[in-house]
Amino acid sequence: MKIGNIEENVITVVVAAGKGTRMKSKKSKLVHKIYGKELVKRVTDTAKRIGSDDIIVVVGHLREQVEDVLGDTVKYAYQDELLGTGHAVMQVEEFLKGKTGKVVILNGDVPILRPETIKNLIEKSIKNKEYATLLTAEYENPTGYGRIIRDVGGSVKEIVEEKDADPFQKTIKEINSGIYCFDIKELLLALKKLKPNNAQGEYYLTDVIKIMNEKGLKTGAVIVEDNTEILGVNDRAQLELLTRVLKMRINSEHMKNGITIEDANSTYIYDDVKIGTDTVIHPNTTICSGVTIGENCEIGPNSYIREGCQIANNVKIGSFVELKKAKIGEGSKVPHLSYIGDCEIGKNTNIGCGTITCNYDGVNKNKTIIGNNSFIGSNVNLVAPVKVGDNTVVAAGSTITDDVPSNALSIARQRQINKDNYKKKN
Ligand code: UD1
Ligand code: MG
Repeated sequence: MKIGNIEENVITVVVAAGKGTRMKSKKSKLVHKIYGKELVKRVTDTAKRIGSDDIIVVVGHLREQVEDVLGDTVKYAYQDELLGTGHAVMQVEEFLKGKTGKVVILNGDVPILRPETIKNLIEKSIKNKEYATLLTAEYENPTGYGRIIRDVGGSVKEIVEEKDADPFQKTIKEINSGIYCFDIKELLLALKKLKPNNAQGEYYLTDVIKIMNEKGLKTGAVIVEDNTEILGVNDRAQLELLTRVLKMRINSEHMKNGITIEDANSTYIYDDVKIGTDTVIHPNTTICSGVTIGENCEIGPNSYIREGCQIANNVKIGSFVELKKAKIGEGSKVPHLSYIGDCEIGKNTNIGCGTITCNYDGVNKNKTIIGNNSFIGSNVNLVAPVKVGDNTVVAAGSTITDDVPSNALSIARQRQINKDNYKKKN
């Protein structure tokens, strides 16, 4: 991959063999989702986004579930016994042997790390000619994390785990995030020297730093700017916390780009959504991945824009509307209480309150196509597959099963019968 203007081989290793006991789940922790995407998929997608030349995931506990999610988009190494983070990385030796360049270590349960942060770590590592570069953070409460031990000159000497730390070391606030960039060759040599002589009886990956320093190899650290990036998921409360952090990160980005979000707390915009300027998102609205929305639209409150939707400029999607695979043309309106799925709507068409597309016949999903400048009355059922032309009027309460030609009025409901003096007779 290219780092700045240097071409460097970068292999990313994702350690993901741990048990995830605190999730209290029958599923692997790594396949739990944030915004519809599995934790481990978030990590491998990030690895792809930085341009990794190879991605190897170390799996163990419930490995089939992780493999089901990632398929053949990555390579796998297996750790059958959980003997520590160093031992996990030893399992990728066959993929690293004989290679040169850098290896980046990521954690399968640290899902919202930014690609730019990893790129910066690699860049610093190359620029400073370091054999190990750690991503660290400064925590007010560092309990539980490995502490970064620096010498008087400020150089990183070693990492000491909480369980092995002396009282002074425990006061150190700079912690190890568990994310590293190593020189491939020197990492392999250092791994050979790891010994499990510590409080947990594990092969610690962190010991590699000390081993390299003893050999006279330069090591260093980059302090992460945004501490939330290195948060991991160990239990359901952390899963919720990270969803919230990601939500705010994405919402802030849209607001910076000129979109009004009335209540960022209750607005859920998934990854990779495009929204045009001056669009207003009202509270309690969810917009799924890949959706595009034009300029000057109104979306919500309480609406759900699902996968595959394309909304043009000046469109109004009002309250309690669910859209799925819907293409809505410029100036059209779906103002209230509708389900519009597998549907194309032209320009300047109005969809009345309560209108639904009956897109599913129990076996297949079928399409509804509605033209320009049409008026669909309230509470209309459009039984797909069905086409409604341009400049049409469909009467309120109609159940439309046949195509409606352009310029027609369609009424598809029973005539009203009034029986006089009915109450009196009874
Ligand atoms: C590790 C670091 C610690 C750091 C912390 C950050 C070590 C020895 N310590 O500690 O310095 O502050 O992460 O969160 O590395 N894993 C395996 N196989 C194993 C053990 C772990 O695949 O045998 C994976 C886990 O699934 C997890 C990651 O490695 O994704 C980290 O393991 P974890 O047990 O959470 O390490 P910590 O003790 O928290
Ligand atoms: Mg941990």
